[in-house]
Amino acid sequence: MTRPVPDRAAIEAALDEAYQAGLAKCAHGHVATYIPELARVDPSLFGIAVHTVDGVTASIGDAAHPFTMQSVSKIFSLSAVIEHSGERVFEHMSTEPSGDAFFSIVKLEEEKGQPRNPYINAGAILTSDHLPGVDASDKIAHFQAFLGRASGLEAAAFPVNEAVFRSEAETGHRNRALAEIMRHHKVISDVEVAVETYFRQCAVTCTAEHLARIAMFLTNAGADPITGEHIITPANAHGVLALMATSGMYDEVGSHAIEVGLPSKSSVSGAVLAIAPGRMAIAGFGPALGQKGNSIGAMKALGVLSKRLELSVF
Ligand code: DON
Repeated sequence: MTRPVPDRAAIEAALDEAYQAGLAKCAHGHVATYIPELARVDPSLFGIAVHTVDGVTASIGDAAHPFTMQSVSKIFSLSAVIEHSGERVFEHMSTEPSGDAFFSIVKLEEEKGQPRNPYINAGAILTSDHLPGVDASDKIAHFQAFLGRASGLEAAAFPVNEAVFRSEAETGHRNRALAEIMRHHKVISDVEVAVETYFRQCAVTCTAEHLARIAMFLTNAGADPITGEHIITPANAHGVLALMATSGMYDEVGSHAIEVGLPSKSSVSGAVLAIAPGRMAIAGFGPALGQKGNSIGAMKALGVLSKRLELSVF
């Protein structure tokens, strides 16, 4: 059954309700503190942005407030990598949910340095290592160019927040450990290049409005529905989305599927991006996180939007 794309009035009414419901939840969450620079972010920030395949945009709250992409970046680095070099990145990585926290080292050690999927930290570090380029600066330039192409904006719209990058580079010992295990198993070749690329990619700045725009190609089988430009192949878009549905929300992926029913990707900076295929991209941003490290306000708001606009794919 193909359902129609909701019109602006329906979207704005649903956004209003979703914003109030999400905002009420934010008071019960906490900002991430394990990256010291993220601990300085205001936990009361909250916003939502919607972009439809028809070009309707709507937003509410702090949807133009800049934040670092963190784990939401993982879907775009995977998109850039598989578009550039096909399935090679999956020669040493599977596509299964991990059932563990995003930073966990346990299965990586048991499974000979082969990450479970590209959206846990180990798999994302491996994926960053596959971005084309000889060093971190080349690889990040490729990543930013991909964001520029996907969004129709300049690559310069997505700068690296150097303070957040340095803060994670100085404290990200567990991510270095993941990279060292993969180096031991010859899954990556250079730990420093891989982790610097990954930390920089996580520190790339965007807004909820930008995020919804960048992700339009995932609503439309890999082509930007606004400009018609090819961004990634339909098969690759299918893979990126399928992995979002199974591993995009870490160990809350099941309850999120029930509550929201859309392939989604979260980040510790408070973003949750959800894709309603053929209809719209929705980006929520609220840095107050729940127990599992996902934005408590954004998840609630997405649940309301999904029900009001009948977006669930299930
Ligand atoms: O590697 C990290 O821990 C962060 N740079 C990103 C983690 C993240 O966003 C997980 N999301 N919920």
